[in-house]
Amino acid sequence: MNRSQLLYAGKAKSVYRSEVPEELIVSFRDDITAFDGGKKDIIVGKGAFNARISAFFFSYLEEHGIPTHFIRMTDERTMVVRELTMIPLEVIVRNRAAGSIVRRYPFQEGQVFSPPVIVMDYKDDTRHDPMINEDLICALGLLTREEIQTIRKLALTINRHLTDLFSNKGLDLIDFKIEFGRSGDKILLADEISMDSMRLWDRETGASLDKDVYRFDKGDVLSAYAQVVKMMVPEGYGV
Ligand SMILES: Nc1ncnc2c1ncn2[C@@H]1O[C@H](COP(=O)(O)OP(=O)(O)OP(=O)(O)O)[C@@H](O)[C@H]1O
Ligand SMILES: [Mg+2]
Repeated sequence: MNRSQLLYAGKAKSVYRSEVPEELIVSFRDDITAFDGGKKDIIVGKGAFNARISAFFFSYLEEHGIPTHFIRMTDERTMVVRELTMIPLEVIVRNRAAGSIVRRYPFQEGQVFSPPVIVMDYKDDTRHDPMINEDLICALGLLTREEIQTIRKLALTINRHLTDLFSNKGLDLIDFKIEFGRSGDKILLADEISMDSMRLWDRETGASLDKDVYRFDKGDVLSAYAQVVKMMVPEGYGV
């Protein structure tokens, strides 16, 4: 696989142009960051775990009618995806209160949101990804009101699928962040769905099995990620 031209090196993934027009190569690196880039490390093996679980979720969601950018894996940390024009929003679905929402608003940690709460942040590191609302999204020309509704519906459907998958394994999906992109007039799920972009709690012990292990030095990050992949991804799946 020729990945000559590096298009973009983000905080955790590198994106390359491929030989095929309209396809990109995404390499999940072992870099891990938190607190707006204030904490940084390399956890050898992390990239492969995130790539594997992302690929599994994308395939699963695709089978269940959600359009995604995922095409295939080429090695354990690398996937081929459809090139999209990314919509600079972080769409966050919260089933229970944790993290920034508890710091910013008077919610109790762990408080259940029924229905789930969707929050959107404007993706701009220089502005520290400020929270955004429907009027601002339209005023910035990012999405039409109809597209916002489409994305909200997709986000809730994705939440339902992921929550069920985790719940069957005794894990509670507390919240997660997704990104979408456009191809013509179609909106597709893009980027990643991994332990870096969600909060997962063991239902029995309440233990975190996600990036909070790294953020708050709660234990061995790699074993937490390995455990989730082992529980969630069927043995024969992937490359
Ligand atoms: N299908 C796609 N087409 C084009 N770009 C994509 C696609 N999927 C994801 N991307 C973009 O590729 C980049 C992936 O790199 P990474 O997630 O490391 O970036 P980052 O933006 O620095 O980190 P963060 O998401 O925490 O801000 C992101 O900018 C993401 O929006
Ligand atoms: Mg990212």
